[in-house]
Amino acid sequence: MARTPTDVLVVGGGIIGLAVAWRTAQRGLSTALLDPDPGRGAAQVAAGMLAPVTELQYGEEPLLRLGTASNARYAAFAAELEDASGLPTGYRACGTLAVALDADDRAELRELHAFHRRLGLESDWLTGREARRLEPMLAPSVSGGLLASDDHQVDGRRVGAALVEACRRAGVELVRGSAQRLLVAGGRAVGAAVDDGGELHAGQVVLAAGSRSHLLPGLPEGVLPPVRPVKGQVLRLRVPPVYAPFLSRNVRAVVRGHHVYLVPRADGELVVGATTEEMGYDTTVTAGGVYELLRDAHALVPGITELPLVETGAGLRPGSPDNAPLLGPTALDGLVAATGHHRNGVLLTPVTGDLVAAYLATGRVPDLAAPFLPTRFARTTRTTAAQEAQR
Ligand code: GLY
Repeated sequence: MARTPTDVLVVGGGIIGLAVAWRTAQRGLSTALLDPDPGRGAAQVAAGMLAPVTELQYGEEPLLRLGTASNARYAAFAAELEDASGLPTGYRACGTLAVALDADDRAELRELHAFHRRLGLESDWLTGREARRLEPMLAPSVSGGLLASDDHQVDGRRVGAALVEACRRAGVELVRGSAQRLLVAGGRAVGAAVDDGGELHAGQVVLAAGSRSHLLPGLPEGVLPPVRPVKGQVLRLRVPPVYAPFLSRNVRAVVRGHHVYLVPRADGELVVGATTEEMGYDTTVTAGGVYELLRDAHALVPGITELPLVETGAGLRPGSPDNAPLLGPTALDGLVAATGHHRNGVLLTPVTGDLVAAYLATGRVPDLAAPFLPTRFARTTRTTAAQEAQR
C-alpha cells in the first residue's frame, strides 16, 4: 500500500515515542508513528516515580542533570498534555521519603544524603520519629529517613493514553502495525517496512522501540549499541477509602540489598515495585518476585497485608551499556535514537520529547542532549583503537 511520505517516522509508540511524535508535530513537521498498540510499553507497568534525587547513583551526575531538567518540566508538561488531550495524567507533586530500617541502611542513606547536599539537591535528613510523623504507617523499626521534596509521581498508563489522544489531535498519523525492517537507501535511513506489507517513508526516522530498539532488522551493525531488557515485576494494591490516606507520598528503601518502593496514587491505587532482573525478554510474574516485593514492602509498611492485591505485572526497562539514554542522531544519516532510558523512562519523557523534536526540527543537538548521543559508544571504541595504534 502506498503511503504519503512524512518528514518524520517514529518507530515505537511507548510514552517516549509518543512524546517525541507529539512535540515534533507541534513544531510543524508531518509525523507518523508506527506501533501495533500505541500507548502500551514499559510505562504500563512502571510505578511512575519521578525520582531524579532518590534514584541517583554515584557517578551518574550527567544523568542527574537530565533528570532534574525533566522533573522541572513535569508539572507544565502534565498540564499541557491534559489540556491537549482532555485526559488526566495522574501527576501528583507529593515528594518521596527514603527510609532506613537498620544501622547499616542508615549509614548508607546518610552518605547518600551528604552526596545530595554536595550536589545542592533538595534532600532533608529525618529521624525515625520524624519520618513516622510524616507517614504513620511506617514500621516502628524505621530508624531514619531522607525527604526528597521534589521527587514526585505520575501515572504512566494515563500518560500513555493522554499522549495517544494528544498525538491524534496534533495530526500525528498513528499507524497500527509492527516495523519489519528499517529501510536504508544511499547510506541513509528512509523509512520502515511494515508487517502489513506496506512501507512508510520519511525524511528522518526515530527509533523509540524500548528494549527491542537494536533488534530492528536492517539496522546496520554498530549504529546502535545493545539495549538490554531489565525485567521489573510490580504489584498493584488498592487502598479502600476507610484506610485513606494510607501513605501521603512515595516511600522507598533498600531492604536486604533490594530496592522497594510504594507509590500511592490519588485514586487509591498503591503501586509496589520493583524487582531488577536480567532475564532476557521474559515477562513472567514469578512467585519469588511477588514474595520478595511483599516481604520488603511489609518490612517498611506492615499494614499493606490488609490491602487487596489487584494486579501483578512485569515490564522490561531498556538498559543501554551505561544505563543512560540514547538521544539524538546516530552514525546512520537520517536515523535518530530515543531509547535506552532504563529506570528513568517515565521521568525523562518530557525532556526526551523536547530535545529530540528540537534536533529533528533544527538539525542541532541541544546542549542538554550532548552527553547522551548514541555515538558516544563508537567514540570510546575509536579512541581505544587509536590509543592502541600509538603504542
Ligand atoms: N524507576 C524505578 C524502576 O525502574 O524500578
